[in-house]
Amino acid sequence: MDISTLSEKINYTLSTLRYGENPVELYEPIRYIMSLGGKRIRPLMALLAAKLYHDDVESVLLPAAGIEVFHNFTLMHDDIMDKAPLRRGKQTVHEKWNANIAILSGDVMLVRAYQLFLGVEPDKLAKVLELFSDTAAKVCEGQQLDMNFEQREQVSIDEYISMITLKTAVLLGFSLELGAVLQNAPDADAAHLKAFGDSVGIAFQLRDDLLDVYGDQQKFGKQVGGDILSDKKTFLMLTALEQASEEQKQRIISWRDKTDASLADEKVAVVTAIYNKLNIRQQTEQVIESYFQEALQHLDAVQVPESRKAAIRTIAMQLMERDS
Ligand code: IPE
Ligand code: IPE
Ligand code: MG
Ligand code: MG
Ligand code: MG
Repeated sequence: MDISTLSEKINYTLSTLRYGENPVELYEPIRYIMSLGGKRIRPLMALLAAKLYHDDVESVLLPAAGIEVFHNFTLMHDDIMDKAPLRRGKQTVHEKWNANIAILSGDVMLVRAYQLFLGVEPDKLAKVLELFSDTAAKVCEGQQLDMNFEQREQVSIDEYISMITLKTAVLLGFSLELGAVLQNAPDADAAHLKAFGDSVGIAFQLRDDLLDVYGDQQKFGKQVGGDILSDKKTFLMLTALEQASEEQKQRIISWRDKTDASLADEKVAVVTAIYNKLNIRQQTEQVIESYFQEALQHLDAVQVPESRKAAIRTIAMQLMERDS
């Protein structure tokens, strides 16, 4: 079974999900955000990890769908927090409806995500729910740190890496671990697959930060420059602050907290010009590559024949080079 067949299975499974009907304001936004697609990389990773052990991955489909519903819930709430106008090339839920609707629709998505895990075999259910719950709490911790850092003057690169590990990487790690655990993989393999996912996840968020500045909005589907506008302490921003001349640093700082919409384009242009001068793009690409290499070492350590790992390798490589 190739990657596109697995993707079709995921898409089909997601298309069969029923979230609820009334009140429509609660459920319509769920159907809306889920219909916008996205890469669906987390369920794919879960299925690919599962396929390392058995060709039959049917038992992984519903919990994998649960991860995707959970991910979309985090996006719905993240877009409120980040005041983002665009998601997957379309209006965000809180813009199309309002913030209260996005909060409550998101809440019920989290509940539905849990329900999708309930079909896991009884002997694995408690373990899987514990891993998922722990992961979900970490995502919230990362999101809070991300917002705390917006207001903070000084954030170290280490603090940034810990923050993105929580908000983004652990969910990718969990996706792979889930696939392994559901197929009765040895504990050591499950741990390496989780570590592989965590490192890929860090690289993935670094790439997301990069695309937020250098992406093509049409392909990326999100507002380019959004992180600069909301004073996010991204890897790009922190590296620039570290390497900027005193004059460049003061220029960046002078633009902080300027939220006036009429100044938005200028703010993005000024900061991007400083990034360009400092070669921040190239430096970020290098760090992405080093996390990718770290990830591959964990994949190498997984005790299954190399030929079975080819699909995971291909997908991870595509993720590193993605433009959407
Ligand atoms: C976006 O995730 C949020 C991040 C963790 C960067 P994705 O890039 O996986 O978003 P979709 O689901 O493909 O739209
Ligand atoms: C969000 O990070 C990660 C989540 C857990 C939702 P971002 O805020 O960078 O994600 P995007 O760019 O809005 O997708
Ligand atoms: Mg965010
Ligand atoms: Mg965001
Ligand atoms: Mg982003």
